[in-house]
Amino acid sequence: MGRLHGKVAIVTGAARGIGAGIAKCLAAEGASVAILDLDGACAEDTAKALGTPALGLAADASDENAMIAAAQKVVTLFGGLDIMVNNAGGAGSDVESMGMGTPFTNVTQKGWDTQLQGNLRTTFAGCKAAIPHLQARGGGAIVNVASIAGLMAMPSVPAYAAAKAGVISLTRSLALELGPNLIRVNAICPGFLWTRAWEFLAGLMQQGVPEYKDMAPRDIFLDVVRRNTPMGREQTPEDIGHLVAFLAGDGAANITGQEIKVDGGITLNVMR
Ligand SMILES: NC(=O)c1ccc[n+]([C@@H]2O[C@H](COP(=O)([O-])OP(=O)(O)OC[C@H]3O[C@@H](n4cnc5c(N)ncnc54)[C@H](O)[C@@H]3O)[C@@H](O)[C@H]2O)c1
Repeated sequence: MGRLHGKVAIVTGAARGIGAGIAKCLAAEGASVAILDLDGACAEDTAKALGTPALGLAADASDENAMIAAAQKVVTLFGGLDIMVNNAGGAGSDVESMGMGTPFTNVTQKGWDTQLQGNLRTTFAGCKAAIPHLQARGGGAIVNVASIAGLMAMPSVPAYAAAKAGVISLTRSLALELGPNLIRVNAICPGFLWTRAWEFLAGLMQQGVPEYKDMAPRDIFLDVVRRNTPMGREQTPEDIGHLVAFLAGDGAANITGQEIKVDGGITLNVMR
């Protein structure tokens, strides 16, 4: 029997990518899993493939009312909520949505707001929707997916980095507030995974860095990984999912308010 048998989890932004890996690892440990994503059809498909009691729902994690309604649906179906994983977000896929701008005075307010809404308000709304249900259960776990970008200077994506630093800060505040309720709140800071954001960034590097001129974006990404990661490999969604499963379970019963890097050691290095 898995260590999360009988537990109910929500994972936002889990139709694909890191969130899908998290959902898979929670289900493998016996949890019932609800996947909330902007892409409802893909959320349903991903949920069906889990092989445990699971639900896929369309929901915008940055909308407080939508999250409250979705959490209520999950509780009605599964009888309660024990684990909330705020994973929805991402760096974006073009200059505007990424809030890019070097120098900083080129960052647009729209780009800034997009990043703060997509990466920080999502965590706020997910926590607000989940906390009453976790309290009703007498305890639980919240895991917020931040990024190593929230720990380092990131002049190329300052809005994304600020939003992720905000996720880490909120994690600490909530851990302090909710400790007496036996609700633990932790953040995970992933390193480099191949996503739409990286596809776009590698495309920019192809145009701007002479040695990358003749390389495909995917190979550029792998070169960045090789040069910056002591462990030498890209991360997988399951690398993050295994830590979420641990943080959600009794093995982590005295761990709260932490931000834990799953980055193959990138943050030990100077970026190259
Ligand atoms: N890929 C990386 O290198 C990396 C590194 C560090 C942190 N992260 C973080 O990991 C998380 C997942 O990213 P990913 O790389 O798997 O991205 P992804 O683009 O592969 O998947 C993100 C999923 O979230 C959904 N989503 C986005 N905004 C949403 C919203 N407001 N409400 C509901 N669903 C929403 C999308 O529809 C998509 O299914 C993000 O918070 C991201 O910032 C990613």
